[in-house]
Amino acid sequence: MNPIEKANAITSRKGQEKPISALTAYDYPTARLLDEAGIDIILVGDSLGMVVLGFPDTTHVTLDMMEHHTAAVARGVKNALVVGDMPIHSYQTPDQALATARTLVNAGADVVKLEGGIRQVDKIRTIIADGIPVIGHHGMLPQRVLKEGGYKKKGKTEAESCAILEGALALQDAGCFAVVLESTVPELAESITARLDIPTIGIGCKGPSNQQTCDGEIAVITDVIGSYPWFIPPFATARANVAGDINHAVLEYIASIQ
Ligand code: KIV
Repeated sequence: MNPIEKANAITSRKGQEKPISALTAYDYPTARLLDEAGIDIILVGDSLGMVVLGFPDTTHVTLDMMEHHTAAVARGVKNALVVGDMPIHSYQTPDQALATARTLVNAGADVVKLEGGIRQVDKIRTIIADGIPVIGHHGMLPQRVLKEGGYKKKGKTEAESCAILEGALALQDAGCFAVVLESTVPELAESITARLDIPTIGIGCKGPSNQQTCDGEIAVITDVIGSYPWFIPPFATARANVAGDINHAVLEYIASIQ
């Protein structure tokens, strides 16, 4: 399948019983393992900055870094849809957004993702007109963490919920094939999922019952495998303890050479 067919295949999963599965990856072996396990989408997220490169947030990530890691991931993937995340300051105008999208696609991404709602519509239309599918990202926007003074749950007020719903509808109208919803209250994620014809892929949008509120789910791989123990978001569920395994293996290795 070419990238447009792959993106359309994700869109066609809207409302289906089996949720769309998505994880981040930043390197060849992880990407290959996720692909071989049958994941639908691999996002080379700009969370790279935090969980791989040791920055405090995603605002330090550059296009060069994203290009480098997108290429590594793409080399490991045969089937999954590879999403290249457009880093902060790389899509300030439609022309710059298109140049960034082309850079990530040339590095091996099938499609690109960018953060924001209504204000991104002209950039999204420009990228799509060039034949590159785009996935939106709304709700909590990590690239705005410094402006907003932290990672805050979105949709707690009527006004904020309406603005995010309007933004999600604008992303759909602009031609996005899916939208990532991050850290919204579950009721908002549910109502956006019901209103949109394109799939929503949630992170941190479930309620206490852990019931699905979106058409799919995305997680940061280090949270899932427990390899970055220094910061774990409250909504994350670790399904392995890779940090602990590394520690044991290294202790055993040190002991073995003494
Ligand atoms: O960069 C990233 O990992 C993301 C996910 C949180 C969706 O954008």
